[in-house]
Amino acid sequence: RMIIIKSQQEIDIMRESGKVTAYILSELKNLIRPGISTKDIDDFVEATILKYRMIPSFKGYNGYPASACVSVNEEVVHGIPSPKKILREGDIVSVDVGTTYKGYVSDAARTYPVGKIGEEAQRLITVTEQSFFEGLKFCRAGFRLSDISAAIQQKVESEGFSVIRDFVGHGIGRAMHEEPQIPNYGKPGRGPRLVPGMVFAIEPMVNQGDYEVRVLENNWTVVTVDGKLSAHYENTVVITDGEPDLLTLE
Ligand code: MF3
Ligand code: CO
Repeated sequence: RMIIIKSQQEIDIMRESGKVTAYILSELKNLIRPGISTKDIDDFVEATILKYRMIPSFKGYNGYPASACVSVNEEVVHGIPSPKKILREGDIVSVDVGTTYKGYVSDAARTYPVGKIGEEAQRLITVTEQSFFEGLKFCRAGFRLSDISAAIQQKVESEGFSVIRDFVGHGIGRAMHEEPQIPNYGKPGRGPRLVPGMVFAIEPMVNQGDYEVRVLENNWTVVTVDGKLSAHYENTVVITDGEPDLLTLE
C-alpha cells in the first residue's frame, strides 16, 4: 500500500495520453446537443482514442462495456452509454474518459449543458469545476493529502451543494486506480505529505441535494437517491516542485 512516484519519462508518456483525453472533452462541447444519444458520445470518444492509436482505459475494466461513462441529470457517475438514451434540451450530461498510452492512464471528466439549461443546473456545473480548482491550490509539495479534500468540500458546501461520499479521487499511473484514495471531503492536515512525482486524478462529484447515492440494477450506474442533479469534474494532476501540472486541461 504505497503511492507510486513517477519519473519524468513516465510523466511525459502520461502527458501524451492526457492530451488526447483533453482534446476529446473539448470536442464534446460541439457534439453535445439535444437529440443525440449517450451512445453517440461513446462512439466519438472511442473512435478518437483509437485514431490516436491509444487504448480506451475503461472498456473491459471490471467488465465495463464502453469507452466513456455518460451520466445524465441525476446520474452521478458510471452511466452506461445507450442508443436509446437521447439527450433533451435542459439536461446536463457528465462524460468521463480514460485513455491508456504505452501502459499509462489519463482520466478526466466534465459536465456539459444540453442546449439551454436552468440557472441552478448551471450553478451546479460551475461550482463543481470551481471546487476542483480550490483543491488544486493544495496540489503542491509540502501540503497533506486531506488539504485537497477539505478545500473541495468547503467550496461545495459553502454554495449549498453536497459532496458524494461513496466515490473518491485516486492515484493514477500504470493502473487507473492507484493509492492513495482522495476523498472530496474531510478535515485538513491529514494523510501523506505531497511530494513531486505523485500523480492524482482529482474528481469532485457534487449533488444539488443530499449526498446519498445508490447503484442501479445494471450494477454500474450511480444515481442520487433524491433524484436531484449531480455534476462531475476531473483532471489528472502531477505534483511538482512548483505549480501543479494538469495533464488533461483543454
Ligand atoms: N473515472 C472513473 C474513475 O475514476 C472511471 C471508472 S469507470 C470504469 O473511477 F468503467 F472504468 F470503471
Ligand atoms: Co477517476
